[in-house]
Amino acid sequence: MKARLLSTLALLALQAAARADSPGIIELPRALFATGDDPARAKPDFDDRNWVEISTLANYEKQGFPGYDGYSWYRFHVRIPSSLKTTVHWPRRLHLYLSSIDDVDQTFLNGARIGEMGQFPDDPRGYATRWNGLRDYYVDVATGLVHWDQDNVIAVRVYDGSGGGGFYRDMPTLSLAEITDGLSMDLGQTPIEYGPENFRARVHWLNSFPIALDGRMDYEIYDAATDKVLRRERAPFHIEANGQADLPVDAPQRAGVEVRFHFTEASTGAVASATMHAPYLLTPPESPSPRINGARVQGVRPGSPVYYRIAATGKAPLNFAASGLPAGLRLDRGSGVISGHTRREGDYRVALTTSNTLGSAHATLSIRVGHQLALTPPMGWNSWNAYGLAVDAAKVRAVAEAMISTGLAAHGWTYINIDDGWEASERAADGEIRANAKFPDMPALSAYLHERGLRFGIYSSPGALTCGRFLGSLGHERRDADTYAAWGIDYLKYDMCSYELLLPKEPTLADYQAPYRVMGAALEAQPRDIIYSLCQYGVAEVWKWGGEVRGNSWRTTGDIEDSWSVTREIMGSQHLSAPFASPGHWNDPDMLVVGEVGWGGALHPSRITPDEQYSHISLWSLLAAPLLLGNELTHLDAFTRNLLVNDEVIAIDQDPLGHAARRAWVGDDWEIWVRDLADGRRAVGVFNFGDRFRRLKLAGRVPELAPGVALRDVWRQRNLAPLTTGYEAAVPSHGVLLLAVGKARP
Ligand code: GAL
Repeated sequence: MKARLLSTLALLALQAAARADSPGIIELPRALFATGDDPARAKPDFDDRNWVEISTLANYEKQGFPGYDGYSWYRFHVRIPSSLKTTVHWPRRLHLYLSSIDDVDQTFLNGARIGEMGQFPDDPRGYATRWNGLRDYYVDVATGLVHWDQDNVIAVRVYDGSGGGGFYRDMPTLSLAEITDGLSMDLGQTPIEYGPENFRARVHWLNSFPIALDGRMDYEIYDAATDKVLRRERAPFHIEANGQADLPVDAPQRAGVEVRFHFTEASTGAVASATMHAPYLLTPPESPSPRINGARVQGVRPGSPVYYRIAATGKAPLNFAASGLPAGLRLDRGSGVISGHTRREGDYRVALTTSNTLGSAHATLSIRVGHQLALTPPMGWNSWNAYGLAVDAAKVRAVAEAMISTGLAAHGWTYINIDDGWEASERAADGEIRANAKFPDMPALSAYLHERGLRFGIYSSPGALTCGRFLGSLGHERRDADTYAAWGIDYLKYDMCSYELLLPKEPTLADYQAPYRVMGAALEAQPRDIIYSLCQYGVAEVWKWGGEVRGNSWRTTGDIEDSWSVTREIMGSQHLSAPFASPGHWNDPDMLVVGEVGWGGALHPSRITPDEQYSHISLWSLLAAPLLLGNELTHLDAFTRNLLVNDEVIAIDQDPLGHAARRAWVGDDWEIWVRDLADGRRAVGVFNFGDRFRRLKLAGRVPELAPGVALRDVWRQRNLAPLTTGYEAAVPSHGVLLLAVGKARP
């Protein structure tokens, strides 16, 4: 008993440190930990004396449990002082912030379940990872669950499917929530109208606490470009218990505008603040005159089926014509879809025309019948960032439909790729991989996409299991590639996942390459073109050898998230792989986090700001990265659509020269990236990674920015005056100025 008391006291000192700067916050930097599973571990008096103590700031793999996947538990012993109640006006909700837990958790306070995120493998709804979700759990103090001034036990049951596992990211904390902490701005339910000068929004608010709030909302329209408050407004604000309320806002639609809200609750004086980084549209409206967009070069192997949708915009109906098509290919004049098979190798220059009542547009498409695929980076959509493992055939069809009805296909977005979660739990008796009940008819889905000139992608792993613990291709590679070809698959994402367990302790380069070589050869043997997308998170500098194993693209990083810290971290490492990109061989810094994402949980608008999204799309285009959307395309808001239909930005990504940008200049939180373009111009991205709106003199920073050179603002599609020595790029915090520099060769 004594020993028990001592160890508990020692733990109290170690694990629950009140933050000196904030007396109301108790930090939980360390916990007791054990692998395995047992429901008794949720109980407060469970004997955890033999458990080890680990940090909650890093995955358990890094703390003595390398390679462990499966169940584990964390336990915290915390004294919760009643003095906490004096730190807030409404001491009714205990707030437990557990940061992120890789992959799934169920959390108990003194034996009672208080929160969960994701779904365990034994869940009847199936396993769902929420490795990147933030855990905010609230406990009603009136339940008596909180033991004031005594030892409380927080027990967390965790399941990790693959890769890193357990707590990570930032400091877990415990505090009492303030009366206003249930108030949040919900941009996902905020309709926004864009006028020529201003935007108008009905900002939507939610109150998740069971107490009505009355008070006033002060808000200011702040202009970061001039560091001035343009306007201050004040309005009475009332929101029901667990209710919703709207607040109309009208503000200038331009870079650097923020709407800063401060709600003051009348009876307590408690304040809640939120900032809306105002969205602004840069891409000019589409012209009703016909225009041909998208990649101007296509690679196809002799005899492989061709599906190519001419990306074109203009007032409907559009008519299409093509001359110089290689034998075996035909054009549907109404839809602009080129299909068929062609056998003779060669570079066919096809003259495309599209016309409507307002005129005609012409472009040359080079169809290269040979052995190289993906001559420009693939563009399309992948199911992961929106649906996670909850993807199904109906959702995929709806997205394909939206790809066309929103007009995105008319700008070159064509791949529709299913990520993890389509596989059945067992192969057929003869070893054939089967789809699960969510995908009742793969060939029919494939035909549906191909009829529309879209392309179909799928996902697997070289391991026995995928990252979502579905069946992988280990030992069945050739068979699976044959099945994919029979289904009409055009793209395979091949994700390392559980293959990691098969690697020797100190893997050689050949060990890393081996599984990718096997599938590469299996795809090569198919009578159709299957783009091969390697996903092994950039291990062993894959950019140096991905092409050798027949890869068309390879992930250069771990998974992206819709947070600036993760997106920025990815941006910070891409200069290493950039020099290795070339036609058919692309670096993949992961999918786009724009629009509504959710990884199978609740969909929400991307949490990166409008300027961060402009930087994201600009850098991916400069890098010649695959552009794979990951959003719920059936709810496409005006800002996101505008971001994705800028043909001049897309043309940088799809430039046929296929050189990725180099990081040409690094200043104090500034970066300039320069990409050579096929027409002799340069694309130049001036990125401001600092926290303020800033200006930078451009002349002479890099040789391409010589005084007098012609400048075009690519997002706004406007020529600027030739570069003068005094010219300053004005760039919002985390934003970009994307330029085309120099004169195009005729
Ligand atoms: C991850 C991969 C993600 C997604 C997921 C599916 O390893 O990086 O992009 O494919 O697995 O389980």
